[in-house]
Amino acid sequence: MKILAIETSCDETAVAVIEATGDSKSAEFNVLGNALLSQIELHREYGGVYPSLAKREHAKNLTPITRAALTEAEMIVSNRVDLNDEVKAKITELLHREPEMTSAFLEFVQEVEVPNIDAIAITHGPGLAPALWVGVNFAQALALAWDKPLVPVNHMEGHIVSSLLKENKIENVKLPLLALLISGGHTELVLMKDWLSYELIGQTRDDAVGEAFDKVARMMDLPYPGGPEISKLAEKAREEGLEEVFNLPRPMLDSKDCDFSFAGLKTSVLYALKELPNLNGEDKKNIAHAFENAAADVLKAKTLKAIEEHGVQSLVLGGGVSANHHIRRVFEETISEKHPEVDLYLPEPKLTTDNAIMIGVAGYFRALRKEFATEIKADGNLKVH
Ligand code: KG4
Ligand code: ZN
Repeated sequence: MKILAIETSCDETAVAVIEATGDSKSAEFNVLGNALLSQIELHREYGGVYPSLAKREHAKNLTPITRAALTEAEMIVSNRVDLNDEVKAKITELLHREPEMTSAFLEFVQEVEVPNIDAIAITHGPGLAPALWVGVNFAQALALAWDKPLVPVNHMEGHIVSSLLKENKIENVKLPLLALLISGGHTELVLMKDWLSYELIGQTRDDAVGEAFDKVARMMDLPYPGGPEISKLAEKAREEGLEEVFNLPRPMLDSKDCDFSFAGLKTSVLYALKELPNLNGEDKKNIAHAFENAAADVLKAKTLKAIEEHGVQSLVLGGGVSANHHIRRVFEETISEKHPEVDLYLPEPKLTTDNAIMIGVAGYFRALRKEFATEIKADGNLKVH
């Protein structure tokens, strides 16, 4: 099955074409085309993602990025293909909020032949509503123009299943599986007892861990996104053999549940910074080091608790924060020491940030179950049966 996958839930406009074979016991994925445009530079001056800007950029970039992914997949055949008036009217209605996108879209689909794909997978949540909508409407318009089935995909499921990829394959995944999802918007422990069915067993009560990384970075005037900046400084502190000079708390470490809290940790950093009016490079390294250690300790403790309580056989890390070297190392060491029976899956670095390959992988498993959108509406609500 060949799938065109689209992701616009946050600040990456991403489109991939993947070819997938097999089933949930053993599946293989080949990336035929992959195009991604990150808006990070544009959002940097706002210190975070600015939703209406994200939406406008997606609208501008979706058509060229889709063309680029299909070109790489060698699926673009130039040929004049006129849409009939009824389809054209439906597409114009769907995209009426984005007149510029509509003209670029109509031009594109009428100058190429229908590509050899079997379905279109689209992220329908969670994410920033305006950003999601523009992607969903674009995907619906493509599905109409090319008469292809549409598969709505959950972004978090995309992170989970793409982390399971090993040399393009997903096979012999032992259940129950536990996923630790760590991103700018989420910190969750999700249990999968049956394939693709989820139970939320723990989550943050306040900030997401990525958000805490970003906020701590901002307090030290480091650029957005702060996670990689903090990580670089903390690694330097370790390389230089610096002691952990700040004693930061490990919130909720001993609570009886699998929930997290990062707001208190962030506030402790704020207090520590107040004591340092002339913050220098050395201080920044020390703070980053202490903060990263504290965040990793809490993630580790709650994940171990969940593993033990639920007899977990596979552990998956997913989301932007799973790119963090220290966190990856901590999990590798802990699992091999304490739970060698658990298979640990860390995502390939290029799959940690948002991308469309993960949407294609999840879309394939959903398409195998024939979970296509049955009703196409211009309000971005997809109905799945
Ligand atoms: O999954 P993602 O790309 O987007 C969301 O869905 O939020 O995650 C972005 C988050 C940001 O908070 C960013 O600072 C964080 O992931 N991040 C990191 C690292 N790389 C990205 N946090 C810690 N260490 C990193 N190396
Ligand atoms: Zn994400």
